[in-house]
Amino acid sequence: MKKILITGGAGFIGSHVVRRFVKNYPEYEIFNLDALTYAGNLENLSDIKNEPNYLFVKGDITDQVFIDNLFKENAFDGVIHLAAESHVDRSITNPMEFIMTNIVGTVNLLNAARNLWKGNFEGKRFYHISTDEVYGSLGDEGFFTETTPYDPKSPYSASKASSDHLVRAYHNTYKLPVVLSNCSNNYGPNQFPEKLIPLIIHNIENNKPLPVYGKGLNIRDWLYVEDHASAIDLIFHKGTVGETYNIGGNNEWRNIDIVKKICSVMDRKLNREPGTSEKLITNVTDRAGHDLRYAIDATKIKNELSWEPSLQFEEGIEKTIDWYLNNKEWLNNVTSGDYQNYYKKMYGGR
Ligand code: NAD
Ligand code: TYD
Repeated sequence: MKKILITGGAGFIGSHVVRRFVKNYPEYEIFNLDALTYAGNLENLSDIKNEPNYLFVKGDITDQVFIDNLFKENAFDGVIHLAAESHVDRSITNPMEFIMTNIVGTVNLLNAARNLWKGNFEGKRFYHISTDEVYGSLGDEGFFTETTPYDPKSPYSASKASSDHLVRAYHNTYKLPVVLSNCSNNYGPNQFPEKLIPLIIHNIENNKPLPVYGKGLNIRDWLYVEDHASAIDLIFHKGTVGETYNIGGNNEWRNIDIVKKICSVMDRKLNREPGTSEKLITNVTDRAGHDLRYAIDATKIKNELSWEPSLQFEEGIEKTIDWYLNNKEWLNNVTSGDYQNYYKKMYGGR
């Protein structure tokens, strides 16, 4: 029996990872540690909450005493660390929360693992989940590889870059058996509707303006969340200790094009005249320091671990839109309360 701690398991990507591990590895005990911030939601895991190999623990990774005790009480064999503040716009208005959770929280986990394992690293692994945003911004050409120098440009990406460096430093200094991955933009079910794709779906449904930052020419490389979860599974089990793997969708879209694509699929699904949703597109003030382009070269994970995205974007976006249309209660729940204040502050109440 292996005890695995997954942090941030009530969030978007974490919920898919927890579900996959609970279902695929009945011999593991899966602990989901999550503070249930605005982005964490146990509804994301309602289908597996009674599984015998699953346990939810509410707690904050910035609380050092709590984390130390959790590791003392439960001799974890592995840690898969996803808990983070994850939204660039929020990091621009409130960087300190990102420093606390993403940097201090990560160091608390590293220290707790180091104290628990005490140099006995056989069968142990600390897996840190990160983002391609640590590499900065690309021009029209080129891709991020694992050796691209770090050049983070937002408080979010700077906090993630800092945590990546600390994870590597614990490997170099204390030999902690770490592995890392840096992934491109994810989309799919359970994503909080502050991120581009679910925000656009939600607004089209409610006939609200579709805020496109600047001219919408920034480019992101989109990956379906379950493909990210399958890569995480592979890297956790088969990745080489000390190594980093880039994960990407090989699926670049300009923001304006992806918004128009969602508009056309939504028109069809909602039986609206073609072109109806596009009329809602509104160009708004650009994000401060907006990175132009992210694109991943995922050759290493393909060659070493035989991983490739399994879902084409056409299929992934249909599945995603269907999920949001079929889960209106989920959307209503997460967009009540604090969301309204956030939305007003960001988009002026439109
Ligand atoms: P998310 O915001 O949806 O979820 C984050 C989860 O962490 C939430 O459940 C939240 O409650 C929890 N959390 C936040 N602060 C905490 C704290 N102090 N203690 C305990 N739990 C806390 O994020 P996501 O999009 O699922 O991202 C998960 C991870 O993947 C993050 O580390 C992020 O940097 C990384 N990542 C995300 C993307 C993406 O496109 N979303 C891409 C690459 C990497
Ligand atoms: P987002 O989903 O916030 O992810 P990230 O900033 O981490 O890549 O944004 C994706 C892209 O969409 C990014 O270039 C910013 C842009 N964007 C908009 O144009 N309008 C919006 O309302 C949001 C949230 C994002």
